[in-house]
Order: sequence, then C-alpha cells, then structure tokens
Amino acid sequence: MTKVISTKSGTESQILAVGSYRPKRIVPNSEIVDRIDSSDEWIQQRTGIETRRFAGSDETVLDMATWAAEAALKKAKLAISDIDTIIVATITFPFQAPSAATAILQRLGHPKAAAFDINAACAGFSYGVAMAHDFIKSGTSKHVLVIGAEKISDFTDPNDRATAFIFADGAGAVVIGPSRDAGIGPVEWGSDADSRDAILMNPSWVDIRDNETQLTKAGGKWPNISQEGQKVFRWAVFSMSKAALKALDSAGLTVNDLDAFIPHQANIRIIETMAKEMDMPESVVIADDIRTNGNTSAASIPLAMDALLDKHPELHGKLALLIGYGAGLVYAGQVVRLPEKP
Ligand code: UT7
Repeated sequence: MTKVISTKSGTESQILAVGSYRPKRIVPNSEIVDRIDSSDEWIQQRTGIETRRFAGSDETVLDMATWAAEAALKKAKLAISDIDTIIVATITFPFQAPSAATAILQRLGHPKAAAFDINAACAGFSYGVAMAHDFIKSGTSKHVLVIGAEKISDFTDPNDRATAFIFADGAGAVVIGPSRDAGIGPVEWGSDADSRDAILMNPSWVDIRDNETQLTKAGGKWPNISQEGQKVFRWAVFSMSKAALKALDSAGLTVNDLDAFIPHQANIRIIETMAKEMDMPESVVIADDIRTNGNTSAASIPLAMDALLDKHPELHGKLALLIGYGAGLVYAGQVVRLPEKP
C-alpha cells in the first residue's frame, strides 16, 4: 500500500511586537543639495523628505538588524531561543554567502533556527511577513523573526541627482507568532519583471548583461543604486493602489475598516496619491516616516510601523494595510493587526 506523507497543521498568526533601530546621524537636505544641484525646497516638495539618517562605521547593516531584532524580542517578551525561523530582507548586506540571517542568529546567541535572507528590495519586508504567516499556518514554524535592514548609503553615489536625496539607512523587525484569530491577511503579491531595469545596483559584481555564460569582473567598480524615478513613480501610483485594494478585498475588508495605512516610504506624493486613489477615509492614520527618515528600502515599513505606534499608541491592536514595492519590479501587500501594547 502506498504510504501517505503526513503534514503538520498550524494556527493563524499575528505580529506580536515591532522594534527598530535608527542610525544616530541625522542628515538634513542642506548636507546633500550642493553636490547634486538641488535645494531643500525641491526635495521637500517632490518627496516630503526633510531629513534622513545615515549610518556610521559603527552601525553596520548587521549591527542595525541585530539591535532592531533585540528591541522586537524585548517587546514580545520572548528570548531568541524561542525563535525557530529568521528571515532577513535586505539588498545591502555586502556578502553573497553565508547569509545575514545566520550572522544575526550567531550574534544573538542562538545559532540554531532556520535562517535565510530574501531579496525583494523595498517589498522584502512584506514578502517576509507573508512567508512567516504561511510557515506558522502550515505548522512549519512557531515564532518567526522578520527583519528589514539596509545601509543604502554604502551603495549610493552622493553625486547622483536621481538617488542621493532619497535613500537612507535603518532597520526594523517584527516577531510573528501563533494566534487564535487571524492577525495577518492573505498576501497580494507579484511583479512586473519587464521593468526590472527601472531600479538597479549598477554595475553588478560581474558584467552579465550581454552573455550570462561569460562572467567578467565589472572593472572593480563599486555598485550603486540607480533608478528611473518617473517610471517607478507612475507604476507605483497606478498599480500599487490597485494591488493594495486587492489585499484588502482578499481579507474581506474595505478601506472603511482600516485604522492605519503603512505603505513603503518612497515618496510622500506617492503615498498621498495612493490614499486618494483608494478613497481612504480621513480617519485612517497614514504613515509618513519618509519625512524624517527617507527611503530605507526593506526597512521602511517596520520603521514606519514602530514610529506610528509610538506617535499613536491607540493604534495598538488595530488594523493596518501594508504595501511594499521596489526593484524587480516586485510588490507585496497584506492587512495586519498591529501588535498589542507591550
Ligand atoms: O523605493 C523604490 C521605489 N522608488 C520610488 O518609488 C521612487 C519613485 N520616484 C520618485 O519618487 C520621483 O520620480 C523622484 C523624487 C525620484 C524625482 O521626482 P520627479 O518629480 O519625478 O522629478 P523629475 O525626474 O520628473 O524631474 C522634474 C524636474 C526636472 O526639471 P525640469 O525639466 O522640469 O526643469 C529635473 O531636472 O526636477 C529636476 N530635478 C531636480 N531638481 C533638483 C530632477 N532631480 C532633481 C534634484 N534636485 N535632485
């Protein structure tokens, strides 16, 4: 008789706590503008950014990720030994292997959990939340640490007029664990891979663009992030509000059921246009961490979530819509119940 494979079955999941780390150095627009022939006024009008933070040499991507994870664990009242899976979303950990996730586990003193990194750029955190939910639901994992951490200043050309004023550094982390009621809704995710050149780390470590079988070192040049701003802007405004509405719909909710909207912090004009396209009622609190912290890619949603809960403690335990999008182009969004007050 053919034997059947037995599987585990898990529970619903929820975000138990969020923690973050912001670099010490606050950088105003005035420190950026001269090199790129820009102005404080232009940057604020076009992006909403007033200041951002750049990490110093004593604040590596691993340092920031570890400190954000420690903050989240403390609020969740859990130890690292309670974590069985760690997912790190980053595009700025400067090693191909081994992963940032294993380095963070080692630093936190529990080198045993399942550990891996994901590259979904600015959507990486929402990808991680989706996976954590599925792992818990299927019984694969019980407590998952999802971290978004970036030190993009290491990969930004300070003379590039298209990027120098946008990108910034930081880390955010959530602990996701079992729950009786659904605390994380179905993910709405996908990509527009035909536009994968719209945001690039350029040049890559090797030059594989013409012929993937002929790997040649890219002249020893350091890769920096580049983007076609307007193209990404248009895609974000028109496609991401639709994706976010689908995420709401698949959770059986409408914008009127929401308490908070925490989209990727790329540009305040994108955030405001999305909210308008979605007919978001004024009662929904909209995260605007971009104003003081710039665009921190995979770290932007958990950083914005932590800041929002600090500013609006009444949002603990309430419903928020997340949507991340970026290089690939890729996106992911879901409704979550924000963590209860620690
Ligand atoms: O996180 C990953 C996802 N990334 C994004 O979502 C980024 C999406 N894109 C954007 O946020 C915007 O496209 C930017 C903020 C990057 C650029 O804003 P924009 O309004 O799209 O600027 P633009 O490229 O259309 O340029 C408008 C004007 C031009 O001048 P003219 O031709 O109108 O006289 C540019 O030369 O602004 C000028 N300009 C600048 N001026 C001062 C372009 N860059 C700058 C600058 N400083 N840095």
